Amino acid sequence: MFSTPFVLSFALLLSLPLLFLLAPHFLPPNTTQLPIPAADEVSDQALFSRAVRSKSSFTRFSLDSKTKPKIAFLFLTNSDLHFAPLWQRFFSKTAPNLYNIYVHSDPSINVTIPPGVFHDRFIASRRTYRASPTLISATRRLLATAVLDDPANTFFAVLSQHCVPLHSFRYVYRSLFASPTFDRTRPPSDSDAELTRMGVNAPYKSFIEILSKSTNLWKRYAARGRFTMMPEVPFDKFRVGSQFFLLTRHHALVVLKDRQLWKKFRLPCYREDECYPEEHYFPTLLSMADPDGCTHYTLTRVNWTGTTNGHPYTYRPGELSAKLIYQLRQSNYSESYLFARKFSPDCLKPLLGLSEKVIFRD
Ligand SMILES: *[C@@H]1O[C@H](CO)[C@@H](O)[C@H](O)[C@H]1NC(C)=O
Ligand SMILES: *[C@@H]1O[C@H](CO)[C@@H](O)[C@H](O)[C@H]1NC(C)=O
Ligand SMILES: *[C@@H]1O[C@H](CO)[C@@H](O)[C@H](O)[C@H]1NC(C)=O
Ligand SMILES: *[C@@H]1O[C@H](CO)[C@@H](O)[C@H](O)[C@H]1NC(C)=O
Repeated sequence: MFSTPFVLSFALLLSLPLLFLLAPHFLPPNTTQLPIPAADEVSDQALFSRAVRSKSSFTRFSLDSKTKPKIAFLFLTNSDLHFAPLWQRFFSKTAPNLYNIYVHSDPSINVTIPPGVFHDRFIASRRTYRASPTLISATRRLLATAVLDDPANTFFAVLSQHCVPLHSFRYVYRSLFASPTFDRTRPPSDSDAELTRMGVNAPYKSFIEILSKSTNLWKRYAARGRFTMMPEVPFDKFRVGSQFFLLTRHHALVVLKDRQLWKKFRLPCYREDECYPEEHYFPTLLSMADPDGCTHYTLTRVNWTGTTNGHPYTYRPGELSAKLIYQLRQSNYSESYLFARKFSPDCLKPLLGLSEKVIFRD
């Protein structure tokens, strides 16, 4: 017979490795990662449910019909909209019935609201933090507000205050709604040709980057604990991609309907430097829900060469030239990138200087 103390210490010894294995489940999350307040969750869910219930989901539009499909431009910002004057020029050349603008601005920041098209376009917002699920919530708030606001909103483009247009509005609009050749990854088919003759680019796809291979993917997956994402998100379903994407209305509703994945992605991470949930939630959800409905690439150019601390390269005024704009447009997947980031705020003047002769000439 074994003595009780012996059994006890033996059991303790056995459980030690187990403790190490499960340790992340018991450690308190990194204090830089705050959970989302319950009251915010409740009001968000009410908003998202209203948007999902709203009847008004056109997936195809004829450009000849009276109601034209619109692009909803969703600006997610935690500072002034540095490039508002450039965006105003972008919008000024077009009929107002082809677009809507919505701005989610961190309420802790005093934003100087630019006059013109951005006026009155600020939606009910909450605080956002870098590398935290608050950025997912803010994006969903923008999507829900835009879905509810106008049934003609057909594409939803997420942008930040550091994003600039690389083309005219006309080019952007035609690329998305009418061009049968814009997306180079989709082989043309007969039925497409027929729809194109009718002025319809269908079926619309979401332009969202979805990558299954990336360094650090496992670390990012395990950032909330090794088994925390299970069973909703097995590692082989976990994806990464830019949070600057362009969704169809159908996919905006898929995102607003979701509760299962959000339940996991809203959890705080143990390490802030391996987190970035906004780069995983949308690509993972849409690649699980409708992989064929997504292009798997983004239309927002970004330069990750020489990345520091998770920030992409930021262009400075001295680098701006017509050549750079042409270079930034070049894409391996579509006829052109439509937007680009990041630019320092003092790039506004040189960008305005390039706008008429280069950016909006296409
Ligand atoms: C924003 O502006 C108001 C009024 O000018 C001021 O009271 C407040 O402290 C400012 N907040 C921040 C975060 O700067
Ligand atoms: C918490 O996050 C900070 C910043 O990313 C990091 O330096 C630190 O190591 C983290 N702490 C723990 C316990 O993971
Ligand atoms: C990307 O950034 C690097 C600096 O990190 C720069 O040398 C390079 O020219 C940039 N590429 C483009 C296409 O602008
Ligand atoms: C296009 O593909 C080539 C070859 O893989 C690569 O060198 C280049 O960086 C890519 N360009 C862009 C804009 O991604």
